[in-house]
Amino acid sequence: MTALTVKTTPFNDQKPGTSGLRKKVTVFQQAHYLENFVQSTFNALDSVEGKTLVVGGDGRFYNEHAVQIILKMAAANGFSNAIVGQNGLLSTPAASCIIRKYNAFGGIILSASHNPAGPTEDFGIKYNVSNGGPAPEHITDAIFANTQTINRYQIIDEDDVDLSTIGSQELGDMQVKIIDPVSDYAELMASLFDFEAIRALLADDSFTLRFDAMHAITGPYGKEILEKELGAASGTVINGTPLTDFGGGHPDPNLTYAKELVDEMFADNAPTLGAASDGDGDRNMILGANFFVTPSDSLAIMAANAHLIPAYKGGLTGVARSMPTSQAPDRVAEKLGIECHETPTGWKFFGNLLDADRTTLCGEESFGNGSNHIREKDGLWAVLFWLNILAERKQSVAEIVNQHWLEYGRNYYTRHDYEAIPSDIASQLMTDLEAKLPSLIGQTLAGRTVQYADNFSYTDPVDNSVSSNQGLRIGFDDGARIILRLSGTGTEGATLRLYIESYEQDADKLNQETQTALQDLISAADTLAEITQRTGRAAPTVIT
Ligand code: G1P
Ligand code: ZN
Repeated sequence: MTALTVKTTPFNDQKPGTSGLRKKVTVFQQAHYLENFVQSTFNALDSVEGKTLVVGGDGRFYNEHAVQIILKMAAANGFSNAIVGQNGLLSTPAASCIIRKYNAFGGIILSASHNPAGPTEDFGIKYNVSNGGPAPEHITDAIFANTQTINRYQIIDEDDVDLSTIGSQELGDMQVKIIDPVSDYAELMASLFDFEAIRALLADDSFTLRFDAMHAITGPYGKEILEKELGAASGTVINGTPLTDFGGGHPDPNLTYAKELVDEMFADNAPTLGAASDGDGDRNMILGANFFVTPSDSLAIMAANAHLIPAYKGGLTGVARSMPTSQAPDRVAEKLGIECHETPTGWKFFGNLLDADRTTLCGEESFGNGSNHIREKDGLWAVLFWLNILAERKQSVAEIVNQHWLEYGRNYYTRHDYEAIPSDIASQLMTDLEAKLPSLIGQTLAGRTVQYADNFSYTDPVDNSVSSNQGLRIGFDDGARIILRLSGTGTEGATLRLYIESYEQDADKLNQETQTALQDLISAADTLAEITQRTGRAAPTVIT
C-alpha cells in the first residue's frame, strides 16, 4: 500500500452547521477542500486504527467522487473495514441503521439533504458516531478546530473501488464491503411495524397510497418496501429513480416543493394517503385526501397512537421535539404521563435522550420524525407509522387528525422562511430583537400577554452540556409563541426562519385556515422584528 502524506493549508469556512458541512459543489471541488475536512474529522476521533467506517450518500452530483476519496483516506488513516452502499448510495436513515447493526465506529454521510443538487448546486458531508447519530457538538467543534490548523492529510495511491459490485474488495490494507443499500433498512422496518395489517390495507381497493421520492434517494427504498414487500400497486412510488441533479428539483417534502404530489392530493379522487421524502430520505410529509398534516401534529398523533404499533405498544418513555416545533406533542406526553423534552434545532440533540432511553419518539417541525430504532430522523419510517395507524383505525387521515384536535386542542402552526438575505442584515435584525426581549415581558402583543421572551439555551439532561443562542422566543400566556432563528444549513447568505404558533381549544374554531388563524401573531412578529422593513421582502420565500 502506498500511503501519501499530502501538504495542505486550512480553509477558513469549514465550520459544520446544523447538519454537517454544506457548500456549493464548486467549493468542494477546490483542491484539497474535501480532503481537509475528512482528515480533520478523522483527527477529531479517537484512534481509527482497526475500526469500521460506513460510507454512503444521497446520490447527488459529486457523491461517487467523494466516496472514492473518503475510502482512500480511510485506508491511509488505518481503518480496517469500510461498508459502502452500492454505487455509493445510502439514505441517511439507512446509514444510521447500518452503523448500528454492524457495530461500526462511525459513518460518513454525503448529503445536503433537500438542497438542490447538480454541478452548480449543493453538496454536503457529515460524520455520524457509533450510535448511528450525528456527531455531538464536542466532536463537530473539534473537527472545526482541526480544519483551522490542518497542514497535511493522508491518502493512498490506488485505483478506484468498484462501487457497483456487491461483495468484498481490498483497498490497500482495508476491506471494503459493498452492500445492498436497502435490505438492512427494509428488515428493520419489518421488525417495527405490522406488515401483515399494512398489506391487508393496501390490498383493499378503496385505499390508495402515493409516495413521491422526488427523484432522490428514497425511490429504491419505497419501491422495495411499499410496492414489493407490502404489495402497493406498481406506480405508487412516483419520481422513484434517483438522479444526480434530483431532476432539477428541490426535494424538500413540503407544500411548496412537493407540488406534483400536493396537486394530486388536493384534486378530486385523491389517494387516501400521500407522502413524500427528501433528498437523503430523512424527512417526510404526510397528506390525506385534501388534507395536510403539519409535522408537529404528525409527531403528536404518532405519540397518541403508538400503542397501536408493534414496536411501541409497550409504551413510550418520552417524547422530544425541537424548540420551534409546536407544543402539540407536549399535550400528548402530559396525558400519557411521560417525559417531554424541548431541544435545540437539529437531530443531534436527540441522541443522548434516545441513548439514555429518556425518549422514544422525536420530531421537528421541519418535516422530520423518528424514534429510538435509529439515531436519525426517518422519512419512510414515518410513512409506515401512518400506514400502520390507518390499518388499525380504519379511518381517513382527516378524521384521525380532527379527532385528535377535539381531544387535545389544536396548535395552529406555520413557518415563514426568508431565504438568501444578506447575512449582515439578518444578524443585525436578530441582535436588535434580542435587545428588545427583556422589555417585552408583561406587555400585550396581538391581544395576548407576553409571559417570557429570551434566547433559548439548552442544558442536556444526560451530559449537562449547554448549547446557548438557539433562537429567540416570545411566549404568551395562552400558549402562543413567536420564534425567530437563523438557519444553520443554508449555503447562500442567511435564511431567517419565523415560527408562529397559537393554541385553540374551542371546538367551533378548529378548522380555520392556518395563515388566517395566525394573522395577528404574524403581523405582530413583523412589526416587532421589522422583517419587511429590514429585508425589503414583501413576503417570505417559503411558507410551510
Ligand atoms: C433545518 C431544520 C432543522 C433540521 C435541519 C437538518 O435546519 O430547520 O430542523 O434538523 O435542517 O435537516 P436549519 O436550516 O433551520 O438550521
Ligand atoms: Zn434530509
